[in-house]
Amino acid sequence: MNNFNNSDKTSLVNFHRYLAQSSTFEPFIIDVDKAEGVYVWDRQGEKYFDFISSICVNNVGHRNPAVLRAINEQMEKYLHVMVYGEFIQQPQIDYAQKLCSLLPPQLQKIFFVNSGSEAIEGAIKLARLYNRRGEIISFRGSYHGSTMGAVSALGNMEIRNRFNPLLPSTVLYDYGMFECIDKITEKTCCVIIEPIQAGTGMTVPPEGFLSALREKCTSVGALLIYDEIQTGFGRTGKLFAFEHSGVDPDILCIAKGMGGGMPLGGFVASEKLMSLLDVPHPLMGHASTFGGHPLSCVAALAALNIIVDLLPALAEKEARIRSALKDIPQVKEVQGKGLFLGAQMSYTETEMNALINRLMQNGFISFYPLFNHTAICLTPPLTVTLDEIDEAMLRFRTAQTIV
Ligand SMILES: Cc1ncc(COP(=O)(O)O)c(C=O)c1O
Repeated sequence: MNNFNNSDKTSLVNFHRYLAQSSTFEPFIIDVDKAEGVYVWDRQGEKYFDFISSICVNNVGHRNPAVLRAINEQMEKYLHVMVYGEFIQQPQIDYAQKLCSLLPPQLQKIFFVNSGSEAIEGAIKLARLYNRRGEIISFRGSYHGSTMGAVSALGNMEIRNRFNPLLPSTVLYDYGMFECIDKITEKTCCVIIEPIQAGTGMTVPPEGFLSALREKCTSVGALLIYDEIQTGFGRTGKLFAFEHSGVDPDILCIAKGMGGGMPLGGFVASEKLMSLLDVPHPLMGHASTFGGHPLSCVAALAALNIIVDLLPALAEKEARIRSALKDIPQVKEVQGKGLFLGAQMSYTETEMNALINRLMQNGFISFYPLFNHTAICLTPPLTVTLDEIDEAMLRFRTAQTIV
């Protein structure tokens, strides 16, 4: 079912033998040789269109030359130098300054971490410091990361229950259901939400939902936390997905596409909120040894500059993908915005697995969203050209079963 020949089987055996996995999906395994732009090559010489961008990481494409240049220049100066902010590191400042210049006025300070999960942890802790309340509200179908705090807010009870006991007082509501607004009270510490939900297939909330959440959170003193770990950095056609609604959060969590292929995350809030972390006694309420690594920060700055330039072209790229999907009979609906699209297919889950495998055989990498196994992610690098979209979507079309 995959492209491995006998001589490559050793790496497959050792992959399973030495690397702990939590989501092995055998037909999907690719033995990677190199990656560039929108393409990944395997060690058997096959070339694939990467239409999932490593789950919204490679927004500027694989090995973007500007990102590589920035990394190379920084490598000549220093790598990691000190841990908890004792040293001034210009790459961190340059990145933070640029990012904050593109965010609303209340999002003006960033705490650097390494991943999305850590960004969510930091945001929850900051919310705790702010109002000292227990209740954390999140939504069914959401994924916020793998650490205990993030799992406590995960929108899937089957996964959550495996790790009980989790944080107490966590509550789940249906994504986009206005009934939940009344449940946000003076007991609520924070509401965590993706402005477009990835796990269910790029679900856009109904008009007015985010503003209703915003209004209620403000009125009861709860914090509104946006998880833009997948949706951020141009993915939805704007720099951040919340810009579509014009509804700002108190805390913005970012990672994935942020680092241009390097590990980097952060949570962004107001100066006033962030000052809650900054206390002389006791020290170290929150810290990250590698958060804001200089290599990651220079890569992130290069990526951010590229993404800002790419934004005007994204509507045409989205339209091109949508138009290619239009007359494929197995496509029932297309959700999402920008290059953050989820096509709901008419297949069963078993047929969907077969489709993913056929796509791979056709040189097209994608996968289903975490909690919707009959949809497929169409999330190529934002650098994808119209010609590349045309060729990739032809491969997508020919992998469908004849109806
Ligand atoms: C929406 C969302 N939030 C949080 C995370 C966790 O990020 P990380 O894997 O970097 O910890 C992910 C990862 O897939 C995500 O998609």
